Amino acid sequence: MAEPTKHLSMIGGALKTELNGLFTVFRTKRSIAFAYGFMLGFVTFTALLAFNHSSSNSPSPWFTSIFTTRTLTCTTPTSSSTTDFLQGMETSMNCDLFDGKWVYDDSYPLYKQGSCSFIDHEFNCFQNGRHDTNYQKMKWKPKGCNLPRLDGVHMLELLRGKRLVFVGDSLNRNMWESMLCILKGSSKDPNNVFEANGKQISKGETSFSFIFKDYNFSVEFFVSSFLVQEWKMLDKDGSEKETLRLDLMGRSSDQYKDADIIIFNTGHWWIPDKTFKGKNFYQEGSHVYGELNVLEAYRKALTTWARWVDASINPNKSMIFFRGYSASHFRGGQLYSGGVCDNDTEPIKNETYLSTYPPKMKLLESVLKGMKIHVTYLNITRLTDYRKEGHPSFYREHNLSKEKRKFQDCFHWCLPGVPDAWNELFYSELLIKEKKMLKH
Ligand SMILES: *[C@@H]1O[C@H](CO)[C@@H](O)[C@H](O)[C@H]1NC(C)=O
Ligand SMILES: *[C@@H]1O[C@H](CO)[C@@H](O)[C@H](O)[C@H]1NC(C)=O
Ligand SMILES: *[C@@H]1O[C@H](CO)[C@@H](O)[C@H](O)[C@H]1NC(C)=O
Ligand SMILES: *[C@@H]1O[C@H](CO)[C@@H](O)[C@H](O)[C@H]1NC(C)=O
Ligand SMILES: *[C@@H]1O[C@H](CO)[C@@H](O)[C@H](O)[C@H]1NC(C)=O
Ligand SMILES: *[C@@H]1O[C@H](CO)[C@@H](O)[C@H](O)[C@H]1NC(C)=O
Repeated sequence: MAEPTKHLSMIGGALKTELNGLFTVFRTKRSIAFAYGFMLGFVTFTALLAFNHSSSNSPSPWFTSIFTTRTLTCTTPTSSSTTDFLQGMETSMNCDLFDGKWVYDDSYPLYKQGSCSFIDHEFNCFQNGRHDTNYQKMKWKPKGCNLPRLDGVHMLELLRGKRLVFVGDSLNRNMWESMLCILKGSSKDPNNVFEANGKQISKGETSFSFIFKDYNFSVEFFVSSFLVQEWKMLDKDGSEKETLRLDLMGRSSDQYKDADIIIFNTGHWWIPDKTFKGKNFYQEGSHVYGELNVLEAYRKALTTWARWVDASINPNKSMIFFRGYSASHFRGGQLYSGGVCDNDTEPIKNETYLSTYPPKMKLLESVLKGMKIHVTYLNITRLTDYRKEGHPSFYREHNLSKEKRKFQDCFHWCLPGVPDAWNELFYSELLIKEKKMLKH
């Protein structure tokens, strides 16, 4: 699997500094990881959106209350594809949503390119000069069923009174921005969508909470690239040293543990360049490992995360998702060593050229199996692997010089684009859960 920053060390000072900008979306947190004091106002505000449910006989009163009362009585899905999906649910429930192919569908994207102000500059390929549009018009088609088009109006009603939270790295940020754009585009008054503390979408923040006032819910993002806690130690020479506490959940976890729906991810930061090559970086208690294999560290971190979920999440209130590893497509090298993806204008068609399922995701699956609380796995690795044409490449910026075009983002996704499909899958999972609840 192509890893983006392996060759960072190969390039020299000035150029390196300049290029760091390319992945600043990833680098948000090191310097500000401890600046959580500012978020108290935000916690108070969003706490207003949280609410308690009295328990009932149902195994999950939360679902019963959102879905029975709202979905079926107040809100009828406006699109026929949702209705069909609901009607065909008996088969859909046995359909692997993640096994399928991409098909061209001219009715996409779900929001017009250039129309959404919530997209990070780095993901806004259209504004950065990318003018082909086929990559926005691909719909995911599972083998055994048809995925309904994400019905934004219906989704707005499903989320009424809720907190939907994304936690993870910049790939989850990609997905969160897609969700904001889809929902804002469907809301009756887009002016009534705003950040709780007036924050702009920029890299210097560790969290955001967008309020959909007319629908009384929030869609939030917490930067937590490793999910576990970034830490500082005094080194032998008295200097501060960054470590990663594999035994502690990230600091912001208290702020989102009561959310109604949480979508986690972590994956791309578990590479040598972002983990000091695994040397004197991973820590448990007061013990810092001289060296630890990245997969072993990943397993320990996921175990910490899983224990935290089992101990801290109320399954009667919250629904937990984990989004799988998003594929990257550097050709002819890696990031910073000539790896590019701008030549790719079509998805991969021949499965022979897909990568094998990443070991990290196999580890994730085994951790999920051992959990007490059910976590819905959004298994998007393979479906992203097809989409080599969906990355920003050199449309990560306006008018890049020829020299700078050599350094491409084949890692994140243009919006509108691939993460919209992740949200469409998430929407289908919600519909399936609703249907299952109603059967009980
Ligand atoms: C969830 O609801 C069930 C059934 O009402 C109840 O037995 C259980 O204690 C609840 N769990 C929690 C963590 O509140
Ligand atoms: C907004 O949602 C919260 C949490 O569900 C609920 O307590 C509150 O009554 C709602 N407010 C309005 C105006 O509907
Ligand atoms: C991209 O396409 C150009 C023009 O067709 C070609 O010269 C170049 O070698 C290609 N680059 C890669 C990495 O395939
Ligand atoms: C896929 O690629 C392989 C290897 O190039 C080739 O043998 C096979 O025929 C291709 N399959 C299809 C369906 O094109
Ligand atoms: C996820 O997808 C991969 C690749 O398609 C597959 O090998 C794996 O079994 C899937 N995992 C689950 C839990 O369905
Ligand atoms: C990019 O270059 C074009 C043509 O030179 C110019 O019209 C446009 O304003 C430039 N865009 C930005 C954002 O600099």
